[in-house]
Amino acid sequence: MSNSDFTPRESFGSRFGIIAAAAGSAVGLGNIWKFPYVAGQNGGGAFLFVYLLFIIAIGLPVMLAEFSIGRRAQRNAIGSFKKLAPGSPWYLVGVMGVAAAFLILSFYSAVAGWTLEYIIKALTNAFAGRDETDLNLMFGSFISGTWRPLFWQLLFMVLTAWIVMAGIKKGIEKYTKVLMPLLVLMIVVLCIRSVTLPGSREGLAFLFRPDFSKLTADAVLSALGQAFFSLSLGMGTLITYGSYIGKNNNLTGTVIQVSAADTIIAVMAGIAIFPAVFAFGIDPAEGPGLVFITLPGIFQQMHGGYFFALIFFILLAVAALTSSISILEVVVAYLIEELNLARRKATILAGVMITILGVFCTLSFGVLSEVTIFGMVIFDLMDFTSSNILLPLGGLFIVLFIGWYLGAGPARREISNDGALRLGYFPVFMFLVKFIAPFAIALVFIYGLGLLRI
Ligand code: PFF
Repeated sequence: MSNSDFTPRESFGSRFGIIAAAAGSAVGLGNIWKFPYVAGQNGGGAFLFVYLLFIIAIGLPVMLAEFSIGRRAQRNAIGSFKKLAPGSPWYLVGVMGVAAAFLILSFYSAVAGWTLEYIIKALTNAFAGRDETDLNLMFGSFISGTWRPLFWQLLFMVLTAWIVMAGIKKGIEKYTKVLMPLLVLMIVVLCIRSVTLPGSREGLAFLFRPDFSKLTADAVLSALGQAFFSLSLGMGTLITYGSYIGKNNNLTGTVIQVSAADTIIAVMAGIAIFPAVFAFGIDPAEGPGLVFITLPGIFQQMHGGYFFALIFFILLAVAALTSSISILEVVVAYLIEELNLARRKATILAGVMITILGVFCTLSFGVLSEVTIFGMVIFDLMDFTSSNILLPLGGLFIVLFIGWYLGAGPARREISNDGALRLGYFPVFMFLVKFIAPFAIALVFIYGLGLLRI
């Protein structure tokens, strides 16, 4: 029997706290670091179009499904399935989620470590007087090193574990509530500077004028993977957070606010980055270094650029932190509730194992750069396997679970707070989770992995 049957379960303290924590999970490196570079590699506008379509048709229903499962079961990602579908193999969906959490945090913490290095670079005015070639070299030589990136990754993991150890209200909620609004403000300032750079129009056209001839199967799969990654879906993060949400919260409202915030911030990151990419003559398909090279370039073109650079990288690190705690919490909640470990022990155990895996990701830009599996370095393999395979697959099973296993009755009761809320849209939701989302995910998946050629 799990210890949550005896102790009262922790929960978020306020409505804003719920939104801040869930949006804190969603908004992170995925929006500001990954979205621009994946969009850049996959043709820009057409990618954005498909991405938005996936957010609406798949992301929203999956998110509502995850919150409902977690709040109904009052358990972690694996325990929720065990409780709602006892004696069945559904719990394996949760197992896959916990595995995805390991893989994601291993490479996420590598990039988050880079943001810490860039805080120091900003502080010491290291970008001053450097052109794009210099900034490119600077980034390349840093990530291909050994001890420096490893040190920052370790520090970031320690910070993540420290907050997770403090628990829900005093850790996760307290920090996200203050820091998220600040980040939004910073990005708005960056957008304004970027679109007023000479030559910025081409960048906006790249992002907003879709050229569908550039849309490959690979790009569509990446858009799906990115939608899942950015909204923190498919691995039980929001099942876990859902279990901390009070019974009187309007889940649909929370879903809409969180998804809107996440999407707006990703698009704003695109607006901040692409005009600058074109204004400075950088290749939009540059890859993981895109923000680390482009933004320092913009800061130099701004009055007070020194301070903006500093604040920006601090907030980027914070955005990464509010996401990484949600990823670690998936594993920790599982260890606490299913294996009866104390929170402290669970956090240390999970943190250490993920950090060990993370070392390989970090070194895959340096001493392990020659090691490739299926043609990918370890970092890319972790990213591809989790974002493009485990998360969509997890999402597929989650909607099937609600649509076909749990069924309309219990789902309606959970989402309507036992009938207290009127749900005019409920039939649409059920239609999406039963038919549209599973079909779309399966199709993109099969086609994107090259298992089927049209
Ligand atoms: N959504 C986060 C981001 O965009 O940075 C990353 C993430 C968090 C992915 C939690 C998955 C997850 F479960």
